[in-house]
Amino acid sequence: LMADSLYIINNFAREYFSNTLFNTEEGQNVGLSYFEERGFTQETIRKFQLGYSLNTWDAFTKTALAKGYNLDYLQKTGLVTIRNEQPGDNYRGRVIFPIHNQSGKVLGFGARILVKNDRAPKYVNSPENEIYVKNRVLYGTYFARHAIDKLNECLLVEGYTDVISLHQAGIENVVASSGTSLTQHQLRLIKKYTNNLTILFDGDNAGVKAALRGLDMAIEEGLNVKLVLIPDKEDPDSYVQKIGADAFREFIAANKQDFILFKLQISMQDAGSDTSRKSQLVNEIAETISKIDKTEDFTRQQDYIRQCSQLLKIDEGGLINLVNKFIR
Ligand code: CTP
Ligand code: MN
Ligand code: MN
Ligand code: MN
Ligand code: MN
Repeated sequence: LMADSLYIINNFAREYFSNTLFNTEEGQNVGLSYFEERGFTQETIRKFQLGYSLNTWDAFTKTALAKGYNLDYLQKTGLVTIRNEQPGDNYRGRVIFPIHNQSGKVLGFGARILVKNDRAPKYVNSPENEIYVKNRVLYGTYFARHAIDKLNECLLVEGYTDVISLHQAGIENVVASSGTSLTQHQLRLIKKYTNNLTILFDGDNAGVKAALRGLDMAIEEGLNVKLVLIPDKEDPDSYVQKIGADAFREFIAANKQDFILFKLQISMQDAGSDTSRKSQLVNEIAETISKIDKTEDFTRQQDYIRQCSQLLKIDEGGLINLVNKFIR
C-alpha cells in the first residue's frame, strides 16, 4: 500500500536524521549545538526524535536509493526533490522535527533553517500526501495524549518548539496547531481526549487573531475554551526558557481567562462608542453563546448570558431573545 510505503520511508528518514545529528561531525557541531543553545536537553532531543539533515546535495537521497527505496515514493514524502533532472535532498543544513500521529508513526517533518534570513523560509514542512494532511494534524499529540486525558485539559500552542520546551518544563498536556488556524478536524482530535481547551497564543496581534478565528468552531464542537496571552515578543517556548517552569505554571494559572468574555471585551474596545458597531457585536456574541449546546450545558449558557449582558450593559431578557433567534 502507498501509505505503508510512506510510513516506512519516513521512519527510515527519522532514524537517518537522528543518526546524522548525534554521530556526524557536522550534525554535532551544527545541529546539536543549535538545539543545545535553545536549551533542549539530550533527553528532550531523544524523546522528540529530533534530527539534522546535512548541508549536502544528496547525502540522504543516495543512501535511501541505495537501500532500495522507490524514487517516486521518496518524492511523495518530500524528502527528495528533483533539481536539474537530478534527485537530491530537500532539507539541507536544517534541523529536523518529525511530526507523529497519535500512535507515534511519522507522518512528515518540519525542517528549520539554522539562521533566519529573507531568502529561505524558516520552516520547510512535508508536502501533503496520503498520510500527511496538514489540517488534520496536531503536533505533539502522541506525546501529550496521556497527560491531556489525565489532566482533562489540552493546551494549544503555535509551534513545534513551544510543545517541546513545555514538555521539558514538565507541562505535557500540550499540542501545536503549527501556525495555522484551528480546523474542525483538529478540534475533534482534541475532543477525543478532553472538552477543556486552553489556547496559549503569542500576545501579538496575529496570535490573538488566529486564536479568535477558532473560537466559534471550538464552541460548536462543544469545547470549553480558555485563553492565555503570552507577553508581547515572547512565545511559550521563549517565555518558559526565560522565566522557568514554576514561574510559567504560575503565569498560566493567573492569566487564564474565559475566551467568550475575552472576545467580548476586545470587540467592545474596538467598537468604542459607535452604536451600530455595538449592536453588531451584540449580535455576534449572541450567536457565539447560541452555539453552546443548551441541552448539554444549560447553566453555562445562562452564566454567559448574565455575564455578557452585564459587560454590555444591556437587558438580560433582550440578550436571551437574541440568543434564541440563533437557535434553530
Ligand atoms: N511555521 C511554518 N512555516 C514558517 C513559519 C512557521 O510552518 N515559515 C509553523 C511552524 O509549525 C512553527 C509555527 O508555524 O512552529 C509557529 O511559527 P513561529 O512562531 O514563527 O515559529 P516558532 O514555532 O516560534 O519557531 P522558532 O522558535 O524556531 O522560531
Ligand atoms: Mn507568532
Ligand atoms: Mn519560537
Ligand atoms: Mn513562535
Ligand atoms: Mn517566532
